[in-house]
Amino acid sequence: MQVLTSVALAAIFQYAQAQVPAYGQCGGSSYSGSTSCTNGYACTSQNPYYYQCVPGSATSTTTSKATSSSTTTTTTKSTTLTTTTSTTTKSTTQSTSLTSTSTGPTCTGTFSAISASNFVAKLHPGWNLGNTLDAVPDEGSWNNAAVVASTFETVKDAGFNGVRIPVTYAYHFTGSSPDWTVDPAWLQRVSDVVDMATSLGLYTIVNVHHDSWIWADVTASGANISMIEEKFYRLWNQIGTKLACKSSLVAFESINEPPCDDSTDGAEINKLNKIFLQAINDAGGFNSQRVVNLVGGGEDSIKTSEWFVAPSGFSNPYAIQFHYYSPYDFIFSAWGKTIWGSDTDKATLLSDFQLLRNNFSDVPIILGEYDASPTNTEPAGRWKYVDELVRSALDLNFACILWDNGLDHLNRNTATWRDLNSISMITKSTAATSNSLPDSTEDASATSQSSSAYIFHEYGTEVTQQSLPFIFNGNTLSSITDSAGSALTSGTDYSVSGSNIIFTASYLSKHLSSTTSPGVIANLTLKFSGGDSSPVIQLVQWKTPTLSSKTAVASSVSGSDLSIPITWGGLQRVAAVKALTTSGTYLVDDWTVYLGPLQQARATYSSQYNWDSSNVILTSSAISSVISAGVTTVFTFEFFPRDNGAVNAVNFTLTV
Ligand SMILES: *[C@@H]1O[C@H](CO)[C@@H](O)[C@H](O)[C@H]1NC(C)=O
Ligand SMILES: *[C@@H]1O[C@H](CO)[C@@H](O)[C@H](O)[C@H]1NC(C)=O
Ligand SMILES: *[C@@H]1O[C@H](CO)[C@@H](O)[C@H](O)[C@H]1NC(C)=O
Ligand SMILES: *[C@@H]1O[C@H](CO)[C@@H](O)[C@H](O)[C@H]1NC(C)=O
Repeated sequence: MQVLTSVALAAIFQYAQAQVPAYGQCGGSSYSGSTSCTNGYACTSQNPYYYQCVPGSATSTTTSKATSSSTTTTTTKSTTLTTTTSTTTKSTTQSTSLTSTSTGPTCTGTFSAISASNFVAKLHPGWNLGNTLDAVPDEGSWNNAAVVASTFETVKDAGFNGVRIPVTYAYHFTGSSPDWTVDPAWLQRVSDVVDMATSLGLYTIVNVHHDSWIWADVTASGANISMIEEKFYRLWNQIGTKLACKSSLVAFESINEPPCDDSTDGAEINKLNKIFLQAINDAGGFNSQRVVNLVGGGEDSIKTSEWFVAPSGFSNPYAIQFHYYSPYDFIFSAWGKTIWGSDTDKATLLSDFQLLRNNFSDVPIILGEYDASPTNTEPAGRWKYVDELVRSALDLNFACILWDNGLDHLNRNTATWRDLNSISMITKSTAATSNSLPDSTEDASATSQSSSAYIFHEYGTEVTQQSLPFIFNGNTLSSITDSAGSALTSGTDYSVSGSNIIFTASYLSKHLSSTTSPGVIANLTLKFSGGDSSPVIQLVQWKTPTLSSKTAVASSVSGSDLSIPITWGGLQRVAAVKALTTSGTYLVDDWTVYLGPLQQARATYSSQYNWDSSNVILTSSAISSVISAGVTTVFTFEFFPRDNGAVNAVNFTLTV
């Protein structure tokens, strides 16, 4: 996953600050240090949680692409293949000769050939080993330790049948043009990790990952397309040689999310797919029969639909892989979007999937990355999303591979899943499954948000019965158990009336009173007669949080993020932040005026605001926006339950 927003990048280059050393962290959610890299390094988004100083220049003076390849002759051991790409926007013509230096390994044993559609069917459900071998510069450089075999056992035990192992090679080359030798120790590590997965019978995809933007970005200004093609061929020829004798459980994916702006780039990505196929076939072994994943621009469904053309002349069974992180605002906590699940939301998701399927009606398709993370989405909306996404994908014969950067789903240190209900729906549900789900606000015009993933009780008020609307979907409620494993008594502790689950005042009074300290008081697990959803709903005592200070002068706190100590009043997280100037204008993204009341004037998580266990945080970018606007701005931090700032919210004012 890679997300680059102009807002985030603007935030990064705003200030001269203490310099972050090579490969240090320079941004991302929960990060509040310097965003300026040491000379020769550029602060780059690896994902929303992690920006890192990687080799490169923060500013580029070149504005146009340097070269174009219009004719490539690829020489192989026994065949010669000529490809022609006509371009309209690039002017220079260059010839690249790609020749295999590999003699090809001799594999012992046999290869049980499998069709791409069979591979796709067996791979589902899959899990991504994110931010691990793809970390830059090395495994272990980001938020995860080197992977151990038991992590794959945990993944398999949870019901996953496949894994995608993203691998970045950019900083593992020991040779330069024309051989581009990869460190043999790194190839061995990749081979060993693949074996960890396949020894458990997991269907396994390995790829070339962040190289796509580090050196293989065909859209970059000054990109040397000949160099990219040459290096890409050599790289895949070496990977193909190292992994040539792996079983048919192993598939290769050409490249992760290759940047792509137009049809010319799209044609070049088609060519990279072809070079990839040539390189692995030249490497020999079982590769000519191996399943491959081919990709279109950005692994985006629309760009793939528009420009992807499968190369001809190869016998490899292939699937198309694409990624889906939509809607952006819900998945990445932007512009106050904390709700999902309207009929329109569902229709959009289905339509996005159907357009891709209709364009490639007879091609096996893998949804190689998607993720509604428990770290930054509201649970009722998230469960509706996961339920809908998995069933829609399966209905169209897509295999799904969950993205997990190590902070999202599996806590690899404790081998526990942060949101078991999502994992259960992902690993067990079929297209026909009817899951029972907590209901929640879906209407974009709503002025407050309800969620049956919580029983919220306000501090200082009398304990009364609470009614939670549920979407039963044809099932009935079987049981409710508390964190200690004790079952609640139907009739006494709760009852079901229509589509509501009603918790009695007497039951709630066992846990809380008007003066109970705010926080999560109990977790209740619900089970139903059918489906794969067992949501854990939380009993939360809440009151409005308080901040240790209410105002600051923007110019005196500029240049770094501002942490404001908070006394939390229930759930320890921010739901949304409204940023309204005292002249009534929106501080950022004034187009949000077209959104609903809970989204208007709202800022974006990690770009403008953040929080940690004891602070809410305004980013240096938010502070600089106030300074450039030149108007005092009120930031309204909203919490769950969201009431549009009415009660459960606090203001912090940045004056100019
Ligand atoms: C582009 O890459 C090719 C192949 O590596 C190399 O021969 C050529 O000199 C490079 N061109 C430029 C302008 O750097
Ligand atoms: C193919 O995809 C494009 C882009 O999403 C879409 O406009 C078009 O309608 C799709 N074609 C079919 C037949 O669905
Ligand atoms: C509820 O579950 C959360 C994890 O989801 C845990 O941190 C918390 O301690 C639990 N609280 C109770 C009261 O069981
Ligand atoms: C926050 O400030 C706005 C605008 O000044 C005001 O309308 C609102 O009532 C304030 N909210 C709180 C919680 O103080």
